[in-house]
Amino acid sequence: MGRRRFRVSTDRDHDVSEGPTTRPDFTVRDGCPGDIAATTRIYAIEVREGSASFELTAPDEAEMTRRFETIRDAGLPYLVAEDTGGEILGYAYAGTYRPRPAYGATVENSVYVAAEARGRGVGRALLAALIERCRQAGRREMIAVIGDSGNVGSIALHRALGFRDAGVLRNVGRKHGRWLDTVLMQFTLQDDGDDGAL
Ligand SMILES: CC(C)(COP(=O)(O)OP(=O)(O)OC[C@H]1O[C@@H](n2cnc3c(N)ncnc32)[C@H](O)[C@@H]1OP(=O)(O)O)[C@@H](O)C(=O)NCCC(=O)NCCS
Repeated sequence: MGRRRFRVSTDRDHDVSEGPTTRPDFTVRDGCPGDIAATTRIYAIEVREGSASFELTAPDEAEMTRRFETIRDAGLPYLVAEDTGGEILGYAYAGTYRPRPAYGATVENSVYVAAEARGRGVGRALLAALIERCRQAGRREMIAVIGDSGNVGSIALHRALGFRDAGVLRNVGRKHGRWLDTVLMQFTLQDDGDDGAL
């Protein structure tokens, strides 16, 4: 699969609907099978040490490849941020929100940035590009299912890009010896007045 590059916005005042811009120190592009080793490493640390993911055992590269293929086969974006030295700093993807067919226009987003690359706009760039790609793919709503109401970084990132609060499910997970909430946030990708009438 060819690598498609995107110019992405990391400007805090930039409306992502205006289209992407660029950053000199990294690029957001389509992920490819060669990126899976890096995304597996980034995700494994978050599974082991963090509370954003409710997985308890980190998936191996074969499983991460299977997930990557499922996303791409659904026509949805799987993006990586790569620095000028070729290192993968983070990744983001949109997956099916829920499997039943009436949910088909709704996606759930995920974004993970390596700990050492945080706080320099990588998460914002990935999520802005993901939103744009999902719009182009005709999806209508994007849902963030954020593990842990103490996950200030993820909540701040989603708010910064215009997601609105949609609710909190209290104590629905247990990890690292404590009960965890799930924070739901929502972003409307297409606001075209379509009321769903056929
Ligand atoms: C959440 C995460 C993706 C953010 O990535 P990042 O590259 O550090 O974020 P950015 O530097 O692009 O920051 C984006 C915005 O969020 C805010 N933000 C990010 N981390 C923050 C933190 N810890 N506290 C407060 N605000 C924060 C920034 O201030 C910035 O706002 P601005 O653009 O208006 O200035 C990253 O911290 C991460 O991978 N966390 C662990 C996994 C996770 O929680 N993923 C989300 C799963 S839903």
